[in-house]
Amino acid sequence: MALEIPRDRSPDSSLWLLRDGYQFIEKRARRYGTDIFDTRLLLQRTVCMTGAEAARAFYEHEALQRTGAGPARVQRTLFGQGGVQGLDGAEHRQRKQMFMSLMTPEAIQRLADFSAEQWQARAASWAAAERVVLLDEAEELLCRAVCAWSGIPLPEHEVATRTRDLVLMFESAASVGVKHWQGRLARRRGEAWVADLVRRTRTGELSQGPGQALATIAGHREPDGRLLDERVAAVELLSVLRPTVAVSRFIVFVALALQSSAGSRAKLEAGDLDPEWFVHEVRRFYPFFPFVVARAGEDFEWGGYRIPSGERVLLDLYGTNHDARWWPQPGRFQPERFRDWTGDPFTLIPQGGGDHYAGHRCAGEWVTIALMKTALAFLTTSIRYDVPAQDLRVSLSRIPAAPSSGFVMSNVHRA
Ligand code: HEM
Repeated sequence: MALEIPRDRSPDSSLWLLRDGYQFIEKRARRYGTDIFDTRLLLQRTVCMTGAEAARAFYEHEALQRTGAGPARVQRTLFGQGGVQGLDGAEHRQRKQMFMSLMTPEAIQRLADFSAEQWQARAASWAAAERVVLLDEAEELLCRAVCAWSGIPLPEHEVATRTRDLVLMFESAASVGVKHWQGRLARRRGEAWVADLVRRTRTGELSQGPGQALATIAGHREPDGRLLDERVAAVELLSVLRPTVAVSRFIVFVALALQSSAGSRAKLEAGDLDPEWFVHEVRRFYPFFPFVVARAGEDFEWGGYRIPSGERVLLDLYGTNHDARWWPQPGRFQPERFRDWTGDPFTLIPQGGGDHYAGHRCAGEWVTIALMKTALAFLTTSIRYDVPAQDLRVSLSRIPAAPSSGFVMSNVHRA
């Protein structure tokens, strides 16, 4: 006999989700004393799961599918329609391979080098500025770097608007009202922009280096041998550009961690702390994606509980990264905890869990780590700066999170 899944008391928890944000699942799982509970979100029955064992089931159980799982409002802003996030099985694996083929160590290094050049170029103008907002700077310079890396021409007069649209796509995903509509318009403009680039690449009007994202996606063929539909190709190309610009938030968290953990900063500067541990701890500690969504394609059992076919299933990313069973004193920023880390694919899951090729784990995780390390090296060795009084608090009910000031620096000069 399967156990009964604890049911959340509220008839619909959507407003609670807005209020509790990143801690929505963690708080309730603690209240019910389980890693699983049932609730209603946006009027749909939803099972919420947390912890490494839940992550293993979420990524490895065949009953959990992505087709039709994501809410339409998130597709219209964040992900787009027809992209890899919503595919399953062989179709997913074939499309995912297209993304993973871009992620060779040499290609990742090239993107990190482009970003390093951009950091240096921007720093030249900062000395004359009274204040520098790191979040704004990082967004724009990552947009320049990822377009150059992808083979996308980006005229100077377009940099600000293209950056803004890419940012709006992920900033609006959890929003309602005006912001949501701004996100939808940004996606429409963005898809039109890159669909035109795909078209011009296919006709040979835009010449491309092999292995660049634009050429790879424009030339990718479906299992039946046809080129990707132009609109779907645009959605996929935006899934390279948009999240690369979003790495700006993790970079701001790198700066915040350097500021609030003076001990770690000193160790990094003395060469006594592995920068990779620091970057992993930033990704574990700070909030980014709250959870991921799937749907049960058939009844399945997990941990003695029966999850019925058709139910929406959320996996808690933030809470799993803060689960004291795997991360002792999870609320402390402690990069050294990664000294003995085995690389378990289900305990550190800010970008999803499991296998990058076979499952839905983030295709850009290695790129993210490389871009964060580049920014960390720049902030600790290339420049010196002051951090004037400002509101650096990070609200856990605002998704996606960032300190409200965007991290202001002043008196910036070369080290
Ligand atoms: C800001 C840092 C990033 C975060 C926090 C992040 C997070 C995530 C998460 C949570 C997922 C969903 C996993 C799932 O559905 O189970 C995902 C998927 C994905 N990410 Fe990222 N990501 C980041 C950066 C990147 C970058 C830089 C790229 C590309 C260059 C990228 C490309 C993708 C793609 C293509 C998918 C879909 C994978 C699939 O469905 O198989 N991401 N990411």
